[in-house]
Amino acid sequence: MYHYRSGQVEPGPPERSGRAGAPASSWETSDAAFRVNPYIRWQYDHPERLLPHPTREALDALRARVPARGLCLELGSGSGNFLVQLARQHPDWHVLGFELRYKRLVKSALKFERAGLGNAWLVRDLAERFTDYVAPESVDAIHVNFPDPWPRASQWKKRLVGATLLADARAALRVGGRFHLRTDFSGYFLHVLGTWRGLSGLKMCFFSNDLEHNRPPGPILLSEFEQLFRSQRKPVFSLILEKTA
Ligand SMILES: C[S@@+](CC[C@H](N)C(=O)[O-])C[C@H]1O[C@@H](n2cnc3c(N)ncnc32)[C@H](O)[C@@H]1O
Repeated sequence: MYHYRSGQVEPGPPERSGRAGAPASSWETSDAAFRVNPYIRWQYDHPERLLPHPTREALDALRARVPARGLCLELGSGSGNFLVQLARQHPDWHVLGFELRYKRLVKSALKFERAGLGNAWLVRDLAERFTDYVAPESVDAIHVNFPDPWPRASQWKKRLVGATLLADARAALRVGGRFHLRTDFSGYFLHVLGTWRGLSGLKMCFFSNDLEHNRPPGPILLSEFEQLFRSQRKPVFSLILEKTA
């Protein structure tokens, strides 16, 4: 089956009820699956870092081993560079990445292991389902870095950030918690701005249409895609929304 979001041939959407770390079906561990994409099998090599068939209970069990004073998410975390920096910057926080692509998940898990990070985990699930894994008003920061642009009007409904995701973010954030978006695509940025204007409870606290020259205070963590776009001298659009109530 071709899964349009991950752009890969795969056995189907993530299992909702399977045990964490357990193959959903024998297909996933078959030679055919391995020939299609070896990362389908390699995703099971990192049970402490990567949940191929996540459940809230399994994630909570991993998180319970590490005390934390904060919680931070990246939705669509790619190959994990941003998460590694985030987890290093906040060793006393839990850091969760949501991603679908097997290879990117495995690469991220390897980076966590090499960096000796005990406070970061990967959930293989649709980023839109992040509220299944965190309690309301428990999250300090949600980052969406360079979401797939879906530029044509007929594709806009596939965009990750819209009214539903912003409302879910508002529900998941603590008061004072922040939603961060970066994109290279002005059309997406305008789409999110337009959506945000219709919502209450999230105030704009930073806005930039060229992050290299107009940046928020503090260190800037760069994802893989941001590094790429900066090397191409493409402007990066950024906004930060803060939960007020
Ligand atoms: C353009 S890449 C950006 C990756 C990373 N955030 C960065 O800035 O380097 C978008 C990522 O989002 C992932 N993605 C797209 N839709 C998703 C969804 N609904 N749930 C989880 N991940 C998704 C893709 O697999 C891809 O890795």
